[in-house]
Order: sequence, then structure tokens, then C-alpha cells
Amino acid sequence: MKALVVNNEKGGVGKSTIAVHLAWYFAERGKRVLFLDLDPQSNGTTTLAAHAVGIDAAALFARPVAVPSMASAGIRVLGGSAALRGIVAVDGKLIEQFRSNIKDASRAYDIAVIDTPPTFGVRNLAALIAGQFVLASIDLDDYASRALKRCSSTSSA
Ligand SMILES: Nc1ncnc2c1ncn2[C@@H]1O[C@H](COP(=O)(O)OP(=O)(O)OP(=O)(O)O)[C@@H](O)[C@H]1O
Ligand SMILES: [Mg+2]
Repeated sequence: MKALVVNNEKGGVGKSTIAVHLAWYFAERGKRVLFLDLDPQSNGTTTLAAHAVGIDAAALFARPVAVPSMASAGIRVLGGSAALRGIVAVDGKLIEQFRSNIKDASRAYDIAVIDTPPTFGVRNLAALIAGQFVLASIDLDDYASRALKRCSSTSSA
């Protein structure tokens, strides 16, 4: 399983919209898709409600989770909830539990699409550590372009 994280420390730039469309796209291409909503706003969860499995994504940080397996193409959603608001401290145990759950789920899925909140914190960090790909959507406006340049000059310094 490949895990793709949609992440950007910016609000309203299309993260959830893209994440949901990626889930539909991969399912239509015959993939077994695990959609994880780490944002308590839960917009992706609302749109993909028909595919919910009744497990909160917040549980992935707390305990070993038996994610229901999939035999054929489709989408399964572990939804966002208010419980995610309590997952804030950068704690190695939370990150490791999340990573371990993703690893276990990888036996039954082809792709995980992980939507994240716009405020960077332990949920985003855990997703980025567990994932192999990152998609960062941006607005092509002046402030966003300048911020990108500042980030790239900081990271290469
Ligand atoms: N490509 C696009 N063209 C036009 N409108 C878009 C596009 N992508 C997203 N939108 C609209 O922009 C708004 C914000 O999108 P979305 O909720 O996906 O952003 P987000 O980055 O997930 O926001 P948040 O940071 O609050 O989670 C929504 O109303 C959505 O319908
Ligand atoms: Mg969103």
C-alpha cells in the first residue's frame, strides 16, 4: 500500500476537495482505497459518508485498530471527529501507534489517502512519517507564492 498525504499549513486551498477526488479516482481505477480524515472539520468524511466503516480516525493514535479489509475496488473511510481535537501533543507513542496501524492496514489496501488539518501538529506529523507521498495544494496568489519562496530558501539554508 502507498500512503499519500494531502497536507499544507494553509486553510481553504483545496486539500479536502483533492483528497476526496483522489479517493474516487483511485477506486474507479480498480484500487482498494483507505481514506483517513485527520481533520476534525471532517469535510471529506461528510462527502464520503456512504463509505464510512464506523471507526474514528482518532482511534488510530490510541490503540491497535483492526481496519476492515477489502476484497475488491472501493473506498473505506475512517472518519474525522471531535476526538481529533484532543490529539495535540507531539508524542512519539501516538506517532508510532498511528504508523503501526497504517502498516497493518497496508495488507488489505492499495492506497491510503490521508486528509490533514490546516494547523500543523502531531496529526500532520504522524501522517507525513507514515506516508510515502505528499501533495501540497496551494493558491496561486501573490502571498502564497512569496511564502513558498521563503519556505524553499529556509529549507535549503
Ligand atoms: N480546484 C478548485 N476550484 C474551485 N474551487 C475549489 C477548488 N478546490 C476547492 N475548491 C473550493 O474551495 C473551498 C475550500 O476547499 P477545501 O475545503 O477542499 O480546502 P481545504 O484546504 O481542505 O480547507 P481546510 O484547510 O479548511 O481543511 C471549497 O469551497 C471548495 O469547494
Ligand atoms: Mg480540508
